[in-house]
Amino acid sequence: MGAALLKTPDKLENILRALVKEVGEPFDIPISVKIRILEDRESTLALVRRLSKTGIKCLSVHCRTTPMRPREPVIRDYLAGIADICHEAGISCIVNGDVRGRFDLAPLMEKYGVDGAMIARAAESNTSCFAATKPGPAGLVDWKTVAREYTNLCAQFDNHHSNTKYCLLQMIPGKDKLYQTVSKAKSVAEMDSALDAAISQSNTTTPIAISTKTTPTTTSTVTFKTPTSTTSNTSTASSEELHLPKRPREESLSETPQKRPLAVNAA
Ligand SMILES: Cc1cc2nc3c(=O)[nH]c(=O)nc-3n(C[C@H](O)[C@H](O)[C@H](O)COP(=O)(O)O)c2cc1C
Repeated sequence: MGAALLKTPDKLENILRALVKEVGEPFDIPISVKIRILEDRESTLALVRRLSKTGIKCLSVHCRTTPMRPREPVIRDYLAGIADICHEAGISCIVNGDVRGRFDLAPLMEKYGVDGAMIARAAESNTSCFAATKPGPAGLVDWKTVAREYTNLCAQFDNHHSNTKYCLLQMIPGKDKLYQTVSKAKSVAEMDSALDAAISQSNTTTPIAISTKTTPTTTSTVTFKTPTSTTSNTSTASSEELHLPKRPREESLSETPQKRPLAVNAA
């Protein structure tokens, strides 16, 4: 459905209300929605006001309009108003679009009052962006190290080779000759040996160090605010920490299933 739902706000609102009633409330599962901004500030804020009354717990905003292409710069002008409406309704507000890494989050929270950020392409390119404290390659784990860790995980979980290849290509700079080699690879073994050769040539790999805060269970920590009340007093927002467990998948699956937020995509 995606962004088409933004053209039918009645339908979008009905879907959210139904999800909250049939799934969210009975099973205590937070319902969230992701939208794009509309053509102007007033219509965007009007939509957010409607959605904020449906019982959802989180709203993510991709700061582009539907026709805007990914290369076009995001429009963040409406964010402060959106975050205010969300907080008045006790809903978290997550910003999306051109967030390059962890270092971008604090200024966005400070300037617009958002509670967190969602990252897509920067994470495809280098997952260490979630720990990056400064922009550019200097803030990231070397891409070959990340790529090697990724292919190891793919092998561990028997990931389909075409998906491995697609994701690996997002990590390799287009100008690197490895890009062409991996593009033409017909098997995981071919990709692996090409990556091995590139790593041994450059010999620049460093140990992965994603965690910014080490706990006994080794977790990566991202700090974000969540509104604690459904009143209009946003100053009661508290700090919480989102712990991202770094454990083998089998171990996670063997545990009691966790309740996960259910997200509607209107972006
Ligand atoms: C490979 C890929 C898959 C995506 N899939 C979805 C999706 O299923 N639902 C969605 O709402 N957005 C999807 N998006 C859009 C992103 O969530 C995000 O809104 C957009 O890329 C802007 O964020 P960014 O600048 O961090 O990339 C996808 C983006 C990429 C690159």
